[in-house]
Amino acid sequence: MRKRYLAVATAALLAGTTAVAAREYKVGLLLPYSGVYAALGKEIQAGFELGLEHYAAELGEDTIRLLPEDTEVKPAVGLTKAKKLVLQDKVDVLAGLVSSGVLAAVRDFVDGAKVPLVVANAGNIHATGKQCSRYIIRVSFSNAQITRPMGRYMAERGLKTVVAMAPDYAAGRQDVEAMRGAFEAAGGKVLKEIYTPFRKTKDFGPYLTEAQATGAEALFVFYAGGEAISFMKQYASFGLKDKLPLYAAGFLTSQLYRNAIGEAALGSINSLHYVTTLDNPENARFQQAFQQKYGRVASEFAVQGYDAARLIVAALAASKGDKEKFVDAARTTTFASPRGPWRIDPATNNIVQNIYVYQIVQGPDGRLVEKVLKVYENEQDPPNGCQLAG
Ligand code: BEZ
Repeated sequence: MRKRYLAVATAALLAGTTAVAAREYKVGLLLPYSGVYAALGKEIQAGFELGLEHYAAELGEDTIRLLPEDTEVKPAVGLTKAKKLVLQDKVDVLAGLVSSGVLAAVRDFVDGAKVPLVVANAGNIHATGKQCSRYIIRVSFSNAQITRPMGRYMAERGLKTVVAMAPDYAAGRQDVEAMRGAFEAAGGKVLKEIYTPFRKTKDFGPYLTEAQATGAEALFVFYAGGEAISFMKQYASFGLKDKLPLYAAGFLTSQLYRNAIGEAALGSINSLHYVTTLDNPENARFQQAFQQKYGRVASEFAVQGYDAARLIVAALAASKGDKEKFVDAARTTTFASPRGPWRIDPATNNIVQNIYVYQIVQGPDGRLVEKVLKVYENEQDPPNGCQLAG
């Protein structure tokens, strides 16, 4: 680093200009590396590092140092780690967050510290709604953004009754609420909402029995990570595929653990902001590079990390370490993503993007892939009490 600075200084002296030292920006990564969402955290970091490989050169001589911290899936731990990164390590930017509960816990601290936070997963609607902050920019999704289209789709498909299941925490409740709002507005009825203890439920049997007893035509669920794998295996072993067809937020059958779920995933209908098979040049480049680097197909979590890294590079290049300028740049930056077109809504700092409804089918090579059934374009949350515009 010192060597590089001297070379730049000498060249500048010869050219009669003043040298500017190369900067090292610190990016604090708040992710779960343990607990029920550990695989998601590692996948987001994998995508983030690939994003830096592809785009960090836009910073010229300046470089980025990653400071990863394990939030587990615990709000209090997430807040402690956020404080450490900001107050002790003096990071320029925070990024990451997987759980909606952890995002809620760090919100006030981030807002008060005026440190930019680029959210790379956690979909808590309030973080870009009634508790929005100029400093919190979300490049992943909001919970409602994913499941509102699914509510509409189920009604369009002619379903009249649905029962819902989800873990009992912010994301589970918000996913069900948005699905129910859209489904019932279109004439459907959610017969029952069943919430399972988050991070604690191993046996979904009693809840599946309760769901079946409602007599609903279909089951809507949100589960992710380790809980998604357990749920799917038990749903299939209960023989419910034909009796209670499955509709879900697509984290349920994520590419990240689809092989672990196996054939149980077949036939389920999902909604998500990314499918692995999207036919665009950015996705081709991203998937090819990810598969070469990590030896597996990249999931939506990897795309979120990849886009977060690219957004951070662009905003650092534009702001040179000034946090207010970073926020201004991050709110107005866009680029072609593997997931398709997107932009940040200046009214909420939440992403606006396409939502894909797809079925898991067996591809020609035997791989379980997504067959897109419908695209809801430019899905945008209402401000929900957020007043950032202007
Ligand atoms: C959430 O808590 O917001 C969340 C966690 C995993 C996948 C999607 C959303």
